[in-house]
Amino acid sequence: MAQTIVLANQKGGVGKTTTTVNLAASLAAMERRVLVIDCDPQANASSGLGVDVSGVRNSVYQALFDPRAASRAIIGSDMDFLKILPATPDLVGAEIELSGERDREFMLRAVVQGVEKDFDYILIDCPPSLGLITINALCAARWLLVPLQCEYYAMEGIAQLMKTYGLVKERLNPKLDILGILLTMFDKRNKLSFMVEREVRDHFGELVFSTAIPRNVRLSEAPSHGLPAILYDIRSLGTQSYISLAQEIIECPRLQPQVQEA
Ligand SMILES: Nc1ncnc2c1ncn2[C@@H]1O[C@H](COP(=O)(O)OP(=O)(O)OP(=O)(O)O)[C@@H](O)[C@H]1O
Ligand SMILES: [Mg+2]
Repeated sequence: MAQTIVLANQKGGVGKTTTTVNLAASLAAMERRVLVIDCDPQANASSGLGVDVSGVRNSVYQALFDPRAASRAIIGSDMDFLKILPATPDLVGAEIELSGERDREFMLRAVVQGVEKDFDYILIDCPPSLGLITINALCAARWLLVPLQCEYYAMEGIAQLMKTYGLVKERLNPKLDILGILLTMFDKRNKLSFMVEREVRDHFGELVFSTAIPRNVRLSEAPSHGLPAILYDIRSLGTQSYISLAQEIIECPRLQPQVQEA
């Protein structure tokens, strides 16, 4: 059964999609069966993995309202172990259309439950909001990964997300736990990056991944070629950092199957 990880932060441009795409590609390179579910109408994760969004007929949008449509909507990528449930711009309407559904917070959960046996990891990329689509993603996952950009006010932005996480866990999805906070766009020439890192590590301790993702131009170039960075420039520091994050997640004791006590 897949480990389902939602990547969320209501702040825009913090590295959610870059992390989804490159963590997914790194896990797939290690021969883990990975599904990326793109829940952002901007569809950046889909296009960043080479999907021509204008040609997509079945997307996460159709799957939300008919979970059986999910298996038809899942498509392959340039990597054998990596598959995508793409987004299309019409997903923007789902925010309102979902609100009329009885199980409106759990529509994506039904999609995940239908496909999780086929994968080792399912990564869900969220839009930059805490609307109903993000709530669906938080209700469909077991783990929350929070990308945090190393910049001023990083901690302020995370407070609202933690509040939402707490509410979802209390009322909707008690199984949701924080997998980790990931420092992104770390710039070692900038003292601010080190200050933010110290503050975040002091406050969240063990919950912060050891791996921090550096600011790296290869990571920002790769999506325009429709490729994850590992296929664009495997030796770049950005690629190597995401490989190291994937390793950290694969080895994370909390993600191992429960060992039965003797
Ligand atoms: N480590 C990095 N080094 C350099 N550029 C990066 C890095 N991470 C992300 N970027 C760039 O920063 C921009 C924002 O990143 P990304 O799209 O991953 O953020 P996001 O949180 O998904 O944004 P949104 O909230 O709009 O969905 C993109 O142009 C991306 O290429
Ligand atoms: Mg994004």
